Amino acid sequence: MKYDLCIVGGAGHVGLPLGVAMANAGVSTVLFDTNREALEVIAGGRFPFKEKDGDRELRRALEKRKLATAHTPDVIGRSAFVLLVVGTPVDEYLNPSIHAITRVIDAYLPYFKNGQVLILRSTVYPGTSERIQRYFRERSKRVNVAFCPERIVEGNALAELMTLPQIVSAFDPQTLGKVSKLFRNIAPKTVATAQPVEAELAKLFSNAWRYIKFAVGNQFFMIAADHGLDYHRIYQAMREDYPRNRDLPSPGFAAGPCLLKDTMQLAAYHSNNFFLGHAAMLVNEGMPNFIVKKLRHGASPAAVPTVRFANENPLRELIGAEAAAPGWLKTKTVGILGMAFKGESDDPRDSLSYKLKKIAEAEAKRVLCTDEYIKDPAFHPVRTVLAESDIVILAAPHKAYAAIDPRRYPAKRFIDIWNFWPRHSNRAARA
Ligand SMILES: NC(=O)c1ccc[n+]([C@@H]2O[C@H](COP(=O)([O-])OP(=O)(O)OC[C@H]3O[C@@H](n4cnc5c(N)ncnc54)[C@H](O)[C@@H]3O)[C@@H](O)[C@H]2O)c1
Repeated sequence: MKYDLCIVGGAGHVGLPLGVAMANAGVSTVLFDTNREALEVIAGGRFPFKEKDGDRELRRALEKRKLATAHTPDVIGRSAFVLLVVGTPVDEYLNPSIHAITRVIDAYLPYFKNGQVLILRSTVYPGTSERIQRYFRERSKRVNVAFCPERIVEGNALAELMTLPQIVSAFDPQTLGKVSKLFRNIAPKTVATAQPVEAELAKLFSNAWRYIKFAVGNQFFMIAADHGLDYHRIYQAMREDYPRNRDLPSPGFAAGPCLLKDTMQLAAYHSNNFFLGHAAMLVNEGMPNFIVKKLRHGASPAAVPTVRFANENPLRELIGAEAAAPGWLKTKTVGILGMAFKGESDDPRDSLSYKLKKIAEAEAKRVLCTDEYIKDPAFHPVRTVLAESDIVILAAPHKAYAAIDPRRYPAKRFIDIWNFWPRHSNRAARA
């Protein structure tokens, strides 16, 4: 075989870092993708999206001649392992679409060879691996299926791939042995499950767990805010030198292409009896509505935490009596800082910033958006947003926004559910 590994979806957020890590570990890898534009960028030594140390590691892999790119599927037939990691979105009814995987395998079936191992790495609806294994058997192809889920956090994949244990699973011991050996090229260890459905669930449970944790933090925040209390003071008191609360996340937008849809996949798997998952969705997806509702009612600044700095009165009136006037939001320009789904990311997929934009557009005079990393002709430079907005909402806490000092804009109201500016200001004061 010409290649050890062919990654189908190799130009994506999971496929590319994995391919680079494998190639740098000496595994000859070909990145196969239908996105030719992204492949050209990659072949030129650049990541098409933001990834820590991505360009450096990619160039290293290309220089070693262990990494190739391809936009035609014939490379599938020339590789010992085929790893499939295309997107697996939920459909418009929030149901999992197993066809995202089967469509791709249908299309490339002629290229698969007897004796190959197909590793499924996309996050899948439980039972998908078994279905795909059966699919090959029914077509008399001796392709052995394995399921090895990806658990990196987007943007820091290259570091995490080298430090996280890899969960591996297969339908027979030989295939399990082969995929374990492959992943030991990059991972400190592999953890095998007895059957692929356990690994499929391990991935979905992990994402749902994280999503629910975010929801707990967000709901606590809403409870405190609804009672006119400063949640961040409570949060700090709860966590200071108290180990059992260390993992309580701070409030923020819990968004992105994975957590919500994987929680929904799990709900569908359990006949929609996943109360915690559904509750988490209502809380997390409700955060933009919560902010705008508070602004609409002109509630006191404590109800939506405006910026609070150490040694300042947290209930400082920033808008004053005007905030109580009905319809005052309709006269205001709202600025949204950060359109990515999280800080330091350039990924707009399923970002709650866009939901916030949509809701705010229905309520305010004007909405201006900006982002450090996402290029969009409809966005404005950050200085324009700061100059022209009456209300500035921090939606994705990119590091660059730490340089903004809301105290320099006393007439504007800054909404910061993350407690981002006070945290940065305290850090700066300590430095
Ligand atoms: N993004 C993450 O942080 C993350 C983490 C863990 C797991 N996952 C899971 O990994 C999977 C992929 O997610 P992603 O974020 O990398 O998606 P992505 O959209 O960034 O990458 C998917 C890639 O597949 C390519 N592709 C689509 N159809 C193709 C086809 N027929 N042939 C060849 N290439 C094709 C696309 O062009 C794209 O480059 C999803 O199941 C996701 O849930 C993602």
